Amino acid sequence: MDVGILGAGHYLPTKVVTNEDIEKIVDTNDEWIRTRTGIEERRFAEDSIDTSDMSYHAAVDALKEANVKAEEIDLILVATVTPDTPFPSVSCMIQDRLGAVNAAAMDVGAACAGFMYGLITAKQFIETGAYKKVLVVGADKLSKIINWEDRSTCVLLGDGAGAVVVGEVSEGKGILSFELGAKGAGGKELFQNKEGYLEMNGREVFKFAVRQMPESTVNVIEKIGLKKSDVDYLVPHQANIRIMDAARERLGIAEDKMATTIKKYGNNSSASIPMALSESVKNGKIKDNDLIVLVGFGGGLAWGAVAIRWGI
Ligand code: UT7
Repeated sequence: MDVGILGAGHYLPTKVVTNEDIEKIVDTNDEWIRTRTGIEERRFAEDSIDTSDMSYHAAVDALKEANVKAEEIDLILVATVTPDTPFPSVSCMIQDRLGAVNAAAMDVGAACAGFMYGLITAKQFIETGAYKKVLVVGADKLSKIINWEDRSTCVLLGDGAGAVVVGEVSEGKGILSFELGAKGAGGKELFQNKEGYLEMNGREVFKFAVRQMPESTVNVIEKIGLKKSDVDYLVPHQANIRIMDAARERLGIAEDKMATTIKKYGNNSSASIPMALSESVKNGKIKDNDLIVLVGFGGGLAWGAVAIRWGI
């Protein structure tokens, strides 16, 4: 059985925060942020909008795109590092709000790679025949865990949510290969500290990512006997434009063949990949039959990549 994405959706908070706005809070400047990270602005959710609200809206959009009713969903997986509360889970919250009464529900914890872990978990449940349709959401309200005393991290983060409906697709389409990995020994490089803030050793994570992203991307392509030049579109985790460009250049693909939401949305952790995917589908960058690669990494350290023949 071939398993793929039936539809993708996303939700973006309306409040735009520019680099100039951040300059008023910490000792930084637009030039540094743009050249070191590629970020021009980000979105912060209003106080009244939490991770479950963004997840819900992204899920509604994905269900609509997939033409699937909430009652048809068998399992909801929400990848997040910023749940409204540890329990009930965000997945249970949206199960109720969506009216997905037939769905089991759990949250997935793999930081920025969480959506990748969720997507591959969904694939397993469908392949075994246990479930037919799984809703996978990546959502984070990182503005809740920003340390405004730390200029090296506060400039990077933004809020948002993306979602996909996973199910059976026609032969030859869907998820063709994947790679998931973890290196717990690197946990100290990127974590939530005792005060609840995101803390990162930027240089170490950068070094790790700049090697891992291209390597995982090449691995999933080689697993299916294809070449780098066969990749039509790359959807990387949006952590830093320099890391993303390293992956893209190693693949030898053109700038316009890579989703780059980081400029406008910053780093959205679990939400980065599904948001970029949904936006790329909506604006026609990803077309039927395209070979696309999603690749992400983050706290854990954990990472994942997947090659998909787009379409149903
Ligand atoms: O999704 C989770 C995964 N996260 C990532 O992948 C992030 C990976 N790391 C990075 O993207 C980069 O390491 C950062 C963007 C976080 C930092 O960029 P960098 O080029 O590694 O800078 P750096 O940490 O080496 O700092 C260079 C300089 C330092 O000043 P000195 O010591 O050279 O005088 C910093 O104090 O830049 C300074 N600096 C800043 N200056 C202005 C650090 N943050 C800022 C800032 N504004 N916001």
